Amino acid sequence: MTPAPIADPSSPPTAPAIDPLQRLRAATSALHARLDTGLPIAREGAGPDDYMRHLALLRGWVGLLQQSGAASRRLDDERDALDAELADCQRLLGQPAPRVEVRAVPDAALTADGADWGLAYVLEGSRLGGQVLHKRLAPAMVPLPLTYLRGAGAGTGPRWKQFVAELKEALTNEARMDAAAAAARHAFELLLRCHEALPTVQGESAFRPLG
Ligand code: HEM
Repeated sequence: MTPAPIADPSSPPTAPAIDPLQRLRAATSALHARLDTGLPIAREGAGPDDYMRHLALLRGWVGLLQQSGAASRRLDDERDALDAELADCQRLLGQPAPRVEVRAVPDAALTADGADWGLAYVLEGSRLGGQVLHKRLAPAMVPLPLTYLRGAGAGTGPRWKQFVAELKEALTNEARMDAAAAAARHAFELLLRCHEALPTVQGESAFRPLG
């Protein structure tokens, strides 16, 4: 058998063979597909209570990511936006939001070099889905204004384009790209775990537990 060539430590990092966005999509698309159909706001006839449960789920998830070691301004902004929207929802609906509590363990995949780009991909990408959901759900969610879901509104497309350009500049070697893909996958898996901690209501499909 021919031995594998030994890497020259003085050579520059290898350029990634595929585009970072494609790599992140490939790493997470199956996990995203489970969200599409399983989340409270995806169920037939979803209404204001489901939206509040969705916010509570995301808030629990952001807290879990932070307790597991993830740290970024984007994550802080997401937490603040969710807290503001949850406070509005509770006031308008006159009922408390459920709490999602999952025990956190330090996760090295969330703090590796390049991981922050994987987490940023998940957060920025979720805004794209948010636009689609906002259009679909707004009429059924009165009196809620869905401020969080609307996000940047018409500015979402340009914001995503800008993000993708930054992502391509930042992930210029295989190791960082792998770290970003692993972090994005872990982030989706933690979200699915948080969903398992939410009690299901009638008509909502439960996810298959993650083993
Ligand atoms: C019922 C819930 C959801 C639905 C129906 C949904 C739907 C969608 C749709 C339609 C897109 C593509 C939008 C476009 O290309 O303009 C998208 C993109 C995306 N969503 Fe979701 N989404 C949901 C929840 C989430 C959540 C909770 C997250 C993460 C926290 C998330 C993460 C992403 C990511 C990362 C992308 C970007 C994919 C890419 O283009 O590479 N989504 N989503």
